[in-house]
Amino acid sequence: MTTTLLATLTDLLGPDAVLTGDDAQGHLTDWSGRFTGAALAVVRPASTQQVADVVRACVAAAVAVVPQGGLTGLVGGAVPAPGTDAVVVSLTRMRRIRELDAVAGTVVADAGVVLADLREAVDAAGWQFPISLGSEGTATIGGIVSTNAGGTAVLRHGMTRDLVLGLEVVLPDGRTWHGLRTLRKDNTGYDLKQLFVGAEGTLGIVTAAALRLVPATPHRATALVALPDIASAVDLLTILRTHAGDRVTAWEVMSHTAFDLVLTHLPGARSPFDRAHAWYGLVEIAGTEVSVTDQLEAALGEAMEGPATDAVVASAGAQTDRLWALREGISEAQRVEGLSIKHDVTLPIDALADFVEVTALRLDEALPGVRLVTYGHIGDGNLHHNLSGPPGDDGALREHAAQLTAVVYDEVTARGGSISAEHGVGVLKREAVARTKDPVEIDLMRTVKRALDPQGMCNPGKVIV
Ligand code: MLT
Ligand code: ZN
Repeated sequence: MTTTLLATLTDLLGPDAVLTGDDAQGHLTDWSGRFTGAALAVVRPASTQQVADVVRACVAAAVAVVPQGGLTGLVGGAVPAPGTDAVVVSLTRMRRIRELDAVAGTVVADAGVVLADLREAVDAAGWQFPISLGSEGTATIGGIVSTNAGGTAVLRHGMTRDLVLGLEVVLPDGRTWHGLRTLRKDNTGYDLKQLFVGAEGTLGIVTAAALRLVPATPHRATALVALPDIASAVDLLTILRTHAGDRVTAWEVMSHTAFDLVLTHLPGARSPFDRAHAWYGLVEIAGTEVSVTDQLEAALGEAMEGPATDAVVASAGAQTDRLWALREGISEAQRVEGLSIKHDVTLPIDALADFVEVTALRLDEALPGVRLVTYGHIGDGNLHHNLSGPPGDDGALREHAAQLTAVVYDEVTARGGSISAEHGVGVLKREAVARTKDPVEIDLMRTVKRALDPQGMCNPGKVIV
């Protein structure tokens, strides 16, 4: 049966688009490095029609499909789950921007378009696509839609979900839903596109998306702020908004542990401060007027009388990039440091300070010397509360991983938070999600999955148990 399916796929796509053995290896591990799957083949269709043909051939052979974009995920969502005999469908050959409407502010792009390429094309048309991620040079539109990616500009513009106007999806039975509408208003029944956003490919394969753009904000003012504690970061957000309203585009925090890892591992990284601080915040205010710099300076002037300890405003583009590199380098720096246990959590903003304090104590009790590499999108209540082992002791971290994660999830749940803010569920969190979510909600999710994919053809073993 497997040989027949491979022959059919080769007939459909041509031999260069069907990878097996060593050629497929580069498609079987995601960026976390924690999840490696096995696949019958990795196929690289070049059109929606070819994706539909592949799905129909796989359904006929009773073999599941696993959609894949740029493989920058962290939860094992885009590689076959352990024990699954699947065909990986890589969308990366589908990289055409189908239409950019510079009057309406909309774009229609294939699933395999790289996020950075889309952003560049949109900028050139005088608009902005405001999903901004450290991985945007590799992440694809299909991936960011399927994971409902967040990033550093959610505070102002929302998650990917808030920017999707329409989708084209190959369904688990091989039919194609042509839902690429760019209408801003459409109240003709259930909002089906939202089912596929964040579904991580479990309900079908997103082959193209119609996206809403936002007006360009050519003037940016950026500052790095030193803070005594995380509660001050929350207070500072209020001050920033008083001065700049919704022009506050990003408000990111980093603990000194996270910041120091970047200074250690990122070539050329330097702190602009002459002494170390407990926490750091990176703020960006963006708008159409030059006055964004005055607004930021006025806000920081007020902040220096209260929550902030020190601040540096970037004076030119190059310095802005250097400040952002300190924030965007954390994930890579922690990887260079060794094993990390990632927790991507979100909490009500007023619960963050207590959460950080209580978990710090409980985690250190569970594994003395464990390092909390806490950073994230504090304006959204979203912390990457990641752990590194005591220096040189990844073995202890590996051994205590389950217990440490239980402490974090326990404290998140107790405060009404979520255990996956923006990275998704994949394989990594599906059991924890089933345990912590309302049983009625889990039942509704299972009902939707059964209705759209009764044979379990699309990305089995992901999201729901
Ligand atoms: C980030 O915000 O840098 C990423 O979402 C976090 C990560 O890579 O763990
Ligand atoms: Zn993040």
